[in-house]
Amino acid sequence: MKILVLNGPNLNLLKKRDPGQYGKMSLEEIEQKLVASFPEFLFTFKQSNSEAEIIEAIQNASASFSGLIINPAAYSHYSFAIRDALELCSIPKIEVHLSNIFAREEFRNVSVTAAVCLGVISGLKENSYLAAAYTLKCMLERK
Ligand code: DQA
Repeated sequence: MKILVLNGPNLNLLKKRDPGQYGKMSLEEIEQKLVASFPEFLFTFKQSNSEAEIIEAIQNASASFSGLIINPAAYSHYSFAIRDALELCSIPKIEVHLSNIFAREEFRNVSVTAAVCLGVISGLKENSYLAAAYTLKCMLERK
């Protein structure tokens, strides 16, 4: 089962960001934890600071992957273009956030991308990704 894990802007700099919000792991460490925890998955990891690249990755995802875990980062709060791309993407999609976006500044309380995903996991730091992968595993194995 091939899973795409797509991360948006500034998530390449996790070690420099507030560990109280984002945890202590780098993105590479989170990716390693996913690989170690879900040997049944073949993960592809992509991080981009560019909205266009994220949209292209979503547009191509259903041709090659069984599931998508996406952290659109700040784009979650305002990118209707990423939302539209997600809506067109037919594989199961789960949105994740390291921090609890509902407990932060008002502009982060809304995700315009969440409604076109199966669900959102927010606030569990790196475990948000692990919970999303576990959910995809349950869903895809049931098929
Ligand atoms: C984030 C939350 C966003 O508000 C923020 O812009 C990010 C990361 C998270 O994972 O908690 O860059 O998506």
